[in-house]
Amino acid sequence: MAATPVTPVIVAIDGPSGTGKSSTSKAVAERAGLGYLDTGAQYRAMTWWMLSNGIDVQDPAAVAAAAAKPVIASGTDPGAPTITVDGTDVSVPIRGQAVTSAVSAVSAVPEVRALITELQRTIAAEAPGGIVVEGRDIGTTVLPGADVKVFLTASPEVRAARRSAELTGQEAAGLAATREALARRDAADSGRKASPLAKAEDAVEVDTSDLTLPQVIECVVTLIEDHTRRAR
Ligand code: DC
Repeated sequence: MAATPVTPVIVAIDGPSGTGKSSTSKAVAERAGLGYLDTGAQYRAMTWWMLSNGIDVQDPAAVAAAAAKPVIASGTDPGAPTITVDGTDVSVPIRGQAVTSAVSAVSAVPEVRALITELQRTIAAEAPGGIVVEGRDIGTTVLPGADVKVFLTASPEVRAARRSAELTGQEAAGLAATREALARRDAADSGRKASPLAKAEDAVEVDTSDLTLPQVIECVVTLIEDHTRRAR
C-alpha cells in the first residue's frame, strides 16, 4: 500500500490531450497516496450544464451570466474519481461529442475560469495528504506554488493515434480528422487570453512520444520522491 506523505505534496500535471495526462495522473496519485483532480472534467461539467440549459455557448456574455448557477463537485479518490453537477453524475455525458466540441469556447470565458480556478484551489488546499491536479494551466495559474510541476507533450501523430484508440463506435473518426480536431482544440486552448495552455517556467517537460505509460508514471513518481527527499 502507498504511504501517505507527511507533508501535503501538490503535483501539477499540464499538457494537451493525447499525452497520457489522465492515465499518468491517476496512476501517480495512487502510487504516491495522493488525491486526484481532473480539471478538464470540471470545464466539461460546466459545458454540459450550459448545453443542457439552452445557453448559447458561442455567446461569452450569456455563458458568463450563467456560470455561477451550476454546483460542480469532484470526488478526488484516484481509484474512483467522480464528477457531479447539482448532484447528478455527469461522468458519461461530459465525454460525448457535443461537450467536446463546445468545451474550448466555454473554458475561454474569464468568469468560468475564475469560478473553476477558485474551486480547484479549495479542493487542493483541503486534500489531506496532497493531490495530483491535471489540466492546462495548473502550474502557471491555478497552483503556481505547486511542489512538483510536469508538462507532458507528444508528437501530433502519437497524440492523434492515442485519441483515436480512446474513441469508439460513431465517434471514432479517421486519424487525419482526429489530428485536425486536436490541432483545432490546441489552438483554441493555447491562443485564448485567459490562462492559456502553457508550460510553467519551472515545470519539467516530458515528451511521452516514445515512452510507455509505466515509464511516464515512473518518471513522475521519481520527481515526487526527489521533492519529498529534499523537503525532509
Ligand atoms: O483534458 P480535457 O480534454 O478533458 O479538457 C477539456 C477542455 O477543458 C480542454 O479543451 C481545455 C479545457 N481545460 C482548461 O481550459 N483548463 C484546464 N485546466 C483543463 C481543461
